[in-house]
Amino acid sequence: MRKILILVSALCVTVSGLLMVVSAQDDITPEQRAAQAVDQRKALFKTLRFNLIPIAGMAQGAPFNAEVAERNARRIAAIASMIPEVMAEDTRGFAVETTSLDSIWDNMSDLSDKAQALEDNAIAFAEAASTGEFATAMGAFRALGGSCGNCHDTYRVDND
Ligand code: HEC
Repeated sequence: MRKILILVSALCVTVSGLLMVVSAQDDITPEQRAAQAVDQRKALFKTLRFNLIPIAGMAQGAPFNAEVAERNARRIAAIASMIPEVMAEDTRGFAVETTSLDSIWDNMSDLSDKAQALEDNAIAFAEAASTGEFATAMGAFRALGGSCGNCHDTYRVDND
């Protein structure tokens, strides 16, 4: 009983700590908010790259691992579904370090379509990889990689 009480009170402290972290968001300046939004979306895109790298490696001759290919593609699909959310904060006019083009916030529905295309192509790749056949998987690779470039070409500063 005592142990349970200690556990419950420890949990309460943790939850109230978390609530403080969340509510502190209300107190930040618009500049801090914009900087946080940029950090968040860069982290998401880096996580996309993290998951694509092993797949791209296989496409370039690294040993084919169907399980890793499928798993990472499914992760990419899940992350892709968050792109419209992380891009929702309009950071135009703030002094932030970003390669996002201003046109994004006049074209959010097109940006969402491009995120959806990545999600769809990642799922198609995952299905292809799940066959265990290298050639079948790689037949779906170009569309997957192409969906990254397709959005970058339109909405990201051209620094590739
Ligand atoms: C719907 C649009 C869209 C799609 C799809 C997309 N990106 Fe991006 N990506 C962006 C934008 C916009 C930025 C610029 C973010 C910023 O600096 O504000 C970016 C930035 C990046 C960055 C740089 C992050 C940083 O730290 O500056 C990487 C890496 C990246 N994307 C990888 C990928 C990969 C890999 C894929 C495909 C699996 C992908 N992206 C798909 C829009 C997209």
